Amino acid sequence: MNSNGFKSSSFKQGIVSGQCMPADLEPEMISLRPERLGEYIGQRETIETLKIAIQAAKQRGEALEHVLLHGPPGLGKTTLAHIIANEMGGKLVITSGPALEKGGDLIGMLTQLETGDVFFVDEIHRLSKAVEELLYPAMEDYCIDFVFDKGIHARSHRFRLKQFVLVGATTRVGLLSSPLRDRFGIFRSLDFYDQADLEKIVDRSARLLELQIEPRGAEELARRSRGTPRIVNRLLKRVRDYAQVRCDGRISKSAVADALSLEGVDSLGLTPLDRRYLQTIIEYYGGGPVGIEAIAATLQEETDTLVDVVEPFLLKIGLLVRTSSGRKASSAAFTHMGYRVE
Ligand code: ADE
Repeated sequence: MNSNGFKSSSFKQGIVSGQCMPADLEPEMISLRPERLGEYIGQRETIETLKIAIQAAKQRGEALEHVLLHGPPGLGKTTLAHIIANEMGGKLVITSGPALEKGGDLIGMLTQLETGDVFFVDEIHRLSKAVEELLYPAMEDYCIDFVFDKGIHARSHRFRLKQFVLVGATTRVGLLSSPLRDRFGIFRSLDFYDQADLEKIVDRSARLLELQIEPRGAEELARRSRGTPRIVNRLLKRVRDYAQVRCDGRISKSAVADALSLEGVDSLGLTPLDRRYLQTIIEYYGGGPVGIEAIAATLQEETDTLVDVVEPFLLKIGLLVRTSSGRKASSAAFTHMGYRVE
């Protein structure tokens, strides 16, 4: 039981998709996750919106409106779904757009939900049209229309659902159809975290893992984590191993720098893939402009990985520029990668 007398959703989560758990759903990551809005660091406006909406819904004894969260991977979309379930006192049921292949997959999950439960659909932009259309009445009127038989024998039956909360997450809000987007009462985009918030997250995680970290160690780790809590927490564990085996266990600035260069993470936090991406634009395409498909083909990587994972941070820190004729490396990118500015 938590302070509100609700059971914490982490104890009664239903993992129902039948797929492997993504890294951010693994048990150890969950222990570093904040469980309540009050513990959440960063994304202040989103947190404030959610606090007000949740308190108002509880006061009225109603379900929270459906929530759409948009942003690059690792910024807290799944964590917020856990928190909403905790705050509403419901359980969390997790799935993803690609896992819901048929209408029956969705119906099976929706009919299990109780009042106040949170139904989290990751990568919601990848739902099939048929499944998406079943969601509309479920979101709007808490019901689904079953259709039995086909042609002249077709009969339909309306099935009532409990008042659940849909939390949708997407890295590509532009790919959502407007009928789906418009059915969410709350829509927030998550942005990369600033240095101060990432340092607070490092300190909190170090405390939970019972690690000794020097302030300059925390600062260095935060600076090299691509503005992303999931990365900060993952790198903290690599640095913990390094400090334990190669140093006296204390996490100093030099332990962070040495451990992260072993990981291939550079002074700005760029990974080997980020650097290969910039190097391709600079060396193969004269700095750009070049289309994303050409870059993906040269790198032999999925376009979606480049668009969802690599580009948002490079755009954020000004190493990449997107123009109508394609992607260009900025002069800061040339300098950072050790090339003379063209
Ligand atoms: N761990 C991961 N993300 C966090 C956040 N935003 N606040 C606190 N701890 C976190």
